[in-house]
Amino acid sequence: MILVTGGAGFIGSNFVLDWLRHGNEPVVNLDKLTYAGNLRNLDALADDRRHQFVRGDIGDRDLVLSLLRRERIRAVVHFAAESHVDRSIHAPEDFIQTNVVGTFRLLEAVRAHWSDLPPDAAQDEPSRARFRFVHVSTDEVYGTLAPEDPPFTETTPYQPNSPYAASKAASDHLVRSFHHTFGIPVVTTNCSNNYGPFQFPEKLIPLCIHNALAGRPLPIYGDGQQVRDWLYVEDHTAAIRTVLDRGMPGETYNVGGWNEKPNLEVVRTLCSILDELAPRRDGRSYADQITFVTDRPGHDRRYAIDARKVERSLGWRPRETFESGIRRTVRWYLDHAEWVADVTSGGYREWIAKHYSAATTSRG
Ligand code: NAD
Ligand code: DAU
Repeated sequence: MILVTGGAGFIGSNFVLDWLRHGNEPVVNLDKLTYAGNLRNLDALADDRRHQFVRGDIGDRDLVLSLLRRERIRAVVHFAAESHVDRSIHAPEDFIQTNVVGTFRLLEAVRAHWSDLPPDAAQDEPSRARFRFVHVSTDEVYGTLAPEDPPFTETTPYQPNSPYAASKAASDHLVRSFHHTFGIPVVTTNCSNNYGPFQFPEKLIPLCIHNALAGRPLPIYGDGQQVRDWLYVEDHTAAIRTVLDRGMPGETYNVGGWNEKPNLEVVRTLCSILDELAPRRDGRSYADQITFVTDRPGHDRRYAIDARKVERSLGWRPRETFESGIRRTVRWYLDHAEWVADVTSGGYREWIAKHYSAATTSRG
């Protein structure tokens, strides 16, 4: 049994779905269901006994420890976080609470559970030797690159520039220290920008698809020449499965798509796919809705990942090109208008309030 934190969010829910598609090991999914958590992402598992959902906070050490012990957890995959840079600029406190304090308390619970495990055990039994804590982090911890700089490697010094990036950097350091000091078998991944199904429409790609179809402006911060390295979310979840399976304790792995694109190009690409698949009634291009707005304070100019370590040592490679992944993504949003309407209207929050109080559990 594995414990996934944040498994109702964008990447976490894709991971849980992907995990259960690729095997039969059950999952306990611990998620606080903040604004970013949406159980509708997991509708496909409604009758699946391999998925047990628990509403709760990673900062609740007693709850986490009781889950780890009761379910004899043999690995934790840690996604839960406050993840949106713009929110960290307007209200950084939640980022410290969840990403730093929450990760620390989660690690403390893991340490207590891990210390009680036998040093070694039969293949399917949890043991100290085979236990893994996979910490899902970001390329933003490395700061920003100039156009001519080489991409980030695992040894690039940390230079986080936003409160979000600083809180993730702090969590990476805590995770590292729990390995170095206590011997917990941790593996950290630092990944670039993800896109794909179930991404909350506050992030660039789903926001622009939604705004385009709603006839609203497509807001481009500053000059739109900031570069991100885009990775289709299923390539990321595959990388995490690989790292959980074969990653070396104490190591970090950079994960990226070799897809550096300026934001303006990304949005223009979205517009031309939408022009083809869902043309505007007036025959004009969605690109007409592009609007330049005030830049994000402290906006990092360029991120790029050197993913050669995970490729060479673990054999993972991204399968989607940007062109194929972005087309799949646009199609997914067009085919799931109900999901988008539910999220943007806040309907999913009412559903959660009706079905879940704090620290409740459900199977399937
Ligand atoms: P998300 O915001 O979509 O989801 C976060 C999930 O965590 C939500 O379901 C939320 O309810 C849950 N959560 C928040 N606080 C919690 C708490 N205290 N206890 C339990 N659950 C809590 O985020 P995402 O985009 O899916 O990112 C997942 C992880 O991957 C994050 O750690 C993020 O830093 C990292 N990451 C994201 C990207 C990206 O492009 N989205 C890239 C690299 C790394
Ligand atoms: O690099 C990995 C990170 O990618 C993750 O760690 C974060 O959790 C994730 O949110 C993402 O951060 P970004 O800030 O890069 O993602 P976002 O979608 O918010 O913005 C992508 C780029 O687009 C960024 O340069 C800011 C710009 N942008 C964003 C929005 C929301 C716009 O120009 N307009 C917008 O309206």
